[in-house]
Amino acid sequence: MKKTKAFQFFNKDTSVKEYSDMYKKLRLDIRYPANVKREQIFVKLLKKHKPKKIIDAGCGAGMPLIDIKKKGFNIIGYDKAKNMVIEAKENLKKNRLSPDLVFYDDFENPKKIKNNSVDCIIGMGAFYYAKNVNKTLLNQKKKLKKNGRLIFSLRNKLFDLITLNNYTKKFLDEIYEVKDLKKEWKNKYKNLTKNYTDRKKIKLEKNIDEAGVHNHIPHNPLTISDEMAKLGLSVEGIYFYHFHAFPPVFEVLDKNYFRKISWKIDNPLDWRGFFLASTFVIDCKKIF
Ligand SMILES: C[S@@+](CC[C@H](N)C(=O)[O-])C[C@H]1O[C@@H](n2cnc3c(N)ncnc32)[C@H](O)[C@@H]1O
Repeated sequence: MKKTKAFQFFNKDTSVKEYSDMYKKLRLDIRYPANVKREQIFVKLLKKHKPKKIIDAGCGAGMPLIDIKKKGFNIIGYDKAKNMVIEAKENLKKNRLSPDLVFYDDFENPKKIKNNSVDCIIGMGAFYYAKNVNKTLLNQKKKLKKNGRLIFSLRNKLFDLITLNNYTKKFLDEIYEVKDLKKEWKNKYKNLTKNYTDRKKIKLEKNIDEAGVHNHIPHNPLTISDEMAKLGLSVEGIYFYHFHAFPPVFEVLDKNYFRKISWKIDNPLDWRGFFLASTFVIDCKKIF
């Protein structure tokens, strides 16, 4: 299947409206408020670091940017989806803020931000949509001053282990190196994992992978510090969000209950986040 570019997917009216609405009210009956939790993590880190100038890369409809601005931070943002930029400008106006705080740019290779000019860049649900994530991070790092912060969210590869579905099967096949095993063991192992349900066979809303959007493979929180060190970024903190209190297949049985028990345990510093959280935020410092 030909992959849609992420910014094209987010440029659709439905996405634009969704990103304007999702921060307004905590309504567990409508959607799991993962992005609200993510924003809380970012705000806490910004309060700790007190950056003088923040860039919100892939700012979407601008709702987190507006909240952060209202908390007294100096923040501007950009997006590659033109309709998101239009919506963000409208949202800024509704909040009596200048629409010029947001503009069009590309986080894979930003043209409108000077090199070595900012002390903090944030990417909320953004950089893993890049064609080449590491190259994107290096281009972001160029914009930072020495010791500047790059704070961004990633998808959690270890989450695949507890979903008990086709993602788990794929994960186990990789770590057990199943394709190299002798036939008899391969068959026995196939039997063990055959009951892991294929997400496509149950009535779940399509996730973004299944909607055919190009996005990068998830990252492993156990190895992320080494990976980032190679790019000149020191990981100073890992924070988990979007917890799943039970295997996702249970969500179809009772969405409200599933979301309620998950929201209760959604704690960025709980070690269970390594497995139960589908996403995490890393707080990185530019070291070279
Ligand atoms: C998941 S949304 C998150 C929006 C916002 N950060 C938030 O948390 O509400 C991802 C955003 O990244 C934008 N995006 C995707 N690729 C981009 C690129 N190469 N440059 C800039 N923005 C991009 C999309 O258009 C979309 O608005």
